[in-house]
Amino acid sequence: MNILLIGAGGREHALAWKISQSPLLETLYITPGNGGMDQCGTILEIDTANHQEIISFCQQNSIGLVVIGPEAPLVSGLADDLAKADIPCFGPSASAAALEGSKGFTKDICRDYNIPTASYGRFTDASSAKDYVAKEGAPIVIKADGLAAGKGVIMAETIEQANEAIDNIFSGAFGEAGAEIVIEETLIGEEASFFVLTDGKTCLPLATAQDHKRAYEGDEGPNTGGMGAYSPAPVMTEELIETTMKTIIEPTVKAMNDKGCPFKGVLYAGLMITEKGPELIEYNVRFGDPECQVLMMRLQSDIVPALKAVANETLDQISLEWKNEYALTVVMAAKGYPAAYQKGTEIEGLANINRMEDIEVFHAGTIRKNDKILANGGRVLNVTGIGKTVMEAQQKAYAALSQIRWNDGFYRNDIGWRAILLERKSQN
Ligand code: AMP
Ligand code: GLY
Repeated sequence: MNILLIGAGGREHALAWKISQSPLLETLYITPGNGGMDQCGTILEIDTANHQEIISFCQQNSIGLVVIGPEAPLVSGLADDLAKADIPCFGPSASAAALEGSKGFTKDICRDYNIPTASYGRFTDASSAKDYVAKEGAPIVIKADGLAAGKGVIMAETIEQANEAIDNIFSGAFGEAGAEIVIEETLIGEEASFFVLTDGKTCLPLATAQDHKRAYEGDEGPNTGGMGAYSPAPVMTEELIETTMKTIIEPTVKAMNDKGCPFKGVLYAGLMITEKGPELIEYNVRFGDPECQVLMMRLQSDIVPALKAVANETLDQISLEWKNEYALTVVMAAKGYPAAYQKGTEIEGLANINRMEDIEVFHAGTIRKNDKILANGGRVLNVTGIGKTVMEAQQKAYAALSQIRWNDGFYRNDIGWRAILLERKSQN
């Protein structure tokens, strides 16, 4: 089968790496790709916003499956257009992608289906939003309703910060995404990322993972897309997985069917494990980045039959095996990220890592120019190790990182710290 993969991040490099190992694959095409993905398939230059161009390419090249990595093409209806052209696709329709595209849409589903989540209000004008903040008090969470590249969430410590965030969003800080605001209670607990494949009928939970969202060590500093992740996440016990499936995932899949927009793809629940149990922070309609990197590293089974079964609605026939090991990935980002950063500086030393065992380097914001790898984004590389313990996976990842020479990059030195603390405790 020929497969077309859409995306350019570390998440898509990890998917490409895994798909390229499938005995079912003939040719993997990738667009737009990055500086590392040419090792897994053929890079194309198709404008992903031009759905007709993608459809024509698929028809001319007998594409048996399109895998859509990021949320933007999903929210803009690429899966719907591929379905109309009878091209099998892994990824939800635009109406189902509203689970990520509109935070208010998801919160209303939680309310209607009794899904545990933070209490909330939806607002389209500043004065009623501020009245709500005055009534609820601080700390409080202010969110732009739409897609804001992970930046549309403000954790306000004071009422003044909350009001400032409301004014910023309504004066256009996030464009159209900020036409509506969702205001939420602050949930307290440990976060976990939970992934489920679903074809709208069957739900197949994947391995668990935990992300480090803050830019600096000790989980301090601004929120980012994610500075590192590991899998499995010890916080997600079997019992919590079962509760999450029953109280969060299954009611959501039912809600989407009831609304006439069945969800087909990977549903990514951002959870807060509170004293009351798992509560939903938000949904994403795609794999997490960098969580996908550690999931792919641990997935023993061929991924292609599972992706195809989601597209064909035959997921009941699939089971997946996971390696009984820990995977851990460290993100190397450009200095300045998540604010402004430089592009175009050279990254050296990657060839040394190719020879290291139990290590994969997934590229994100890189380009290859005359056999050099140059930085081309905020999050640039994902150095991923696998080992018998989180500590071993971490040691391998940092040993590999020490081979990389890139003066304009930085990374956190403490990825995995919570799980390592638990490991140390259980050894004593
Ligand atoms: P989101 O984009 O909605 O996942 O939010 C980004 C991050 O903000 C989450 O991963 C949490 O760390 C934090 N966050 C969002 N909503 C809440 C909430 N209601 N309570 C506590 N933290 C939150
Ligand atoms: N790692 C968080 C995300 O993919 O949204």
